[in-house]
Amino acid sequence: MTTDRIAALMARMTLAEKIGQLNLLSAGEGPETGSAAVGNIRGRLEKGRLGAIFGTKSVVSVRAWQELALAGSRHAIPLFFAEDVIHGHRTVFPLPIALAGAFSPAVWEATARVAAREAAAEGIKQVYAPMIDIARDPRWGRVAESPGEDPYLASRYAEATVRGLEGDDLTRPDTVVACLKHFLAYGAAVGGRDYDNASLSAEELIGVYAEPFRAGVAAGAGSVMAAFNAVNKRPMHAHRPLIEGWLRGKAGFDGLLVADYTGIAELSAHGLGDGATVTALALLAGVDMDMIGENYLHHLPRLAVEGLDAPEAGLSIAAGDICAAVDRACTRVLTLKERLGLFDDPFRYCDEARATTTALSPEHRRVARDAIAESTVLLKNDGVLPLRTGARVALVGAMADDRTNVLGTWAVSGDQAAAVTFREGLQAHLEEPLTCVKGADIVDDPELAHRLNVHGQTVFLDDRPAALMVEEAVAAARAADVVVAVVGEAREYSGECSSRTDLDLPPPQQRLVEALAATGTPLVLVVQTGRPLALERETALASAVVLAWFAGTEAGNGIADVLTGTEPGGRLAITFPARTGQVPVLYAAEPTGRPYPGHFEKFKTGYVDLPDTIPPATGLFPFGFGLSYTTFDYAAPTVERDRLAGDDTARVRVVVTNTGVRRGSTVVQLYVSDPVARITRPMIELKGFKKIVLDPGETREVAFSLTRRDLAYAIGEEPLAVEWVWDPGVFVFRTGPNARDLQSVAVHWDG
Ligand code: NOJ
Repeated sequence: MTTDRIAALMARMTLAEKIGQLNLLSAGEGPETGSAAVGNIRGRLEKGRLGAIFGTKSVVSVRAWQELALAGSRHAIPLFFAEDVIHGHRTVFPLPIALAGAFSPAVWEATARVAAREAAAEGIKQVYAPMIDIARDPRWGRVAESPGEDPYLASRYAEATVRGLEGDDLTRPDTVVACLKHFLAYGAAVGGRDYDNASLSAEELIGVYAEPFRAGVAAGAGSVMAAFNAVNKRPMHAHRPLIEGWLRGKAGFDGLLVADYTGIAELSAHGLGDGATVTALALLAGVDMDMIGENYLHHLPRLAVEGLDAPEAGLSIAAGDICAAVDRACTRVLTLKERLGLFDDPFRYCDEARATTTALSPEHRRVARDAIAESTVLLKNDGVLPLRTGARVALVGAMADDRTNVLGTWAVSGDQAAAVTFREGLQAHLEEPLTCVKGADIVDDPELAHRLNVHGQTVFLDDRPAALMVEEAVAAARAADVVVAVVGEAREYSGECSSRTDLDLPPPQQRLVEALAATGTPLVLVVQTGRPLALERETALASAVVLAWFAGTEAGNGIADVLTGTEPGGRLAITFPARTGQVPVLYAAEPTGRPYPGHFEKFKTGYVDLPDTIPPATGLFPFGFGLSYTTFDYAAPTVERDRLAGDDTARVRVVVTNTGVRRGSTVVQLYVSDPVARITRPMIELKGFKKIVLDPGETREVAFSLTRRDLAYAIGEEPLAVEWVWDPGVFVFRTGPNARDLQSVAVHWDG
């Protein structure tokens, strides 16, 4: 709702001043991810032609930009400052794909809270997070930033993250406004190629990809960012039906919608027309702020007077419509500034002392360390873990004692110097001195190494022959009781524009793992990666596999905690394929006419070259999977009543017992199958989860409640016509510790 103050201000502003508010530039103080120049910020500010800046790196610079902005604006309109705070700000947390696997709203909220506190202490009041793109294709590098493959999990992650970032008052010095991104279906890029387009049924688009946005908006997210890609032939920066129609119209979003980096200008490359045409298209589609490209600044003054006649693009727009859209967009920018309290005091977030004491505080580092335990996934363990006290450990790998990679991608304000390496963390836990050797380069292809070093050097090609490095590692392994090998991806091997055609461990690391395994010394693999890798061979060779993802500032301490006995609390938020050719592979697969298993012999849905031990639809490690240091028994689920009607609530109960000798955690998961419906439905869908901690011998009953609404599904010919429907009949509730190992109970639900 527009306040009197904003209405009065709008009435005093010229068209040029309003257009200036729609301009968003980068301070150029961090890495740039596009081709456009940073722009002449100072020149823009002097003329009041800038609404916000992102990418500042200190309170000092925020204060300086703000002073310029106020001096250059007739109405003293302040800037707001934004930043990519993807998995922490100064204190870097595990990657979002890792955090999602904590299956814990408490962890998501706590980490977001810390990120907000650190960012706001530096004057940043909008963060380009949470990234809530459903990611089902591990070839896509931005899987790293996403909450994974499942809409239910991603929606809960979206809500908790928004709560943690925004709190209940955006004027507080420790809150920031969230920016849900990237709207919509950016993660469905064909072939997993970043920026590529998506073709999806209306059901998938609204029922799967839009769900986390619906949840994030309902949780109060104040801003949204458009996606680079086209969806069903319409580039998202010009997608009026989805932005105005669905996001604002159906989901009730009333905040600010920002472009992605040069996203408006890129509409021309998508084939939608010249600069003026795409400017009009984006503005009328509902994109309020133009990031970097300055199309709005250059084209709107004329469009607002002359309108647009572009027959080749099938467009004719009246000047009055452009003016009305400028007013709408400018009102949204100013409203956000007001919500942030910036009109009352433009410098309220500029406290140099607070910035220093907040960043990387011991309390924040503790949250980060705990978050690692909650998100690290134990994929295999034949008993070698936890490491025995007094064991002689050989630590191997190019990233074993390396600070340049542990923060992972999109840690633009992270301080590498403050990060703890695996060597440092592990040594602090062990009595015996560690032997630490490199063993192999991360990759050995110089061209690839060059690309991976685009944001600073993270891959260092050794001068020594590869065989010599392996020999050194083998000698260290032979002299040890256990060898811990840190293998996986360099920091920029995943992330934006880091799509891969091959999900195998890079060849030099494969050879290293084979040589280490051949020594017979028990081999623990610590996998540092931003995406699922195809680890079939390595898993067979190793005694234990620990998925660290990229664990952030406290990586060394947090992973050492887990290796030495802290319960690994993480579960997979995305399926791990056995082989690259299997992707995309997801747990919520749909049935086919010739299902696997079940159909005879060769003629079933799967691969002729995949052994029967690897189900084609569940991969090597299924969604929700992760081992514990103890064991759990799951009883079959029960229901109070197996016949329900109408608005009844189904209560599903499952009894879980810790059958081991250690205290440990498990994530109790509830999936639902709807065997007969109007359209083909996923074989199972996640509908609930609960992480519990049990003492040895302890038994707990976990209950889930579901109504018809929870069982509804999306159906429709096109996105805006999608309805959520529910059909009476049989529903099967399945519970267990992951999407593969489930037991079931059926109910009949009448209409
Ligand atoms: C491009 C990315 O797609 C987006 O996620 C990010 O927020 C912007 N650049 C700003 O850095």
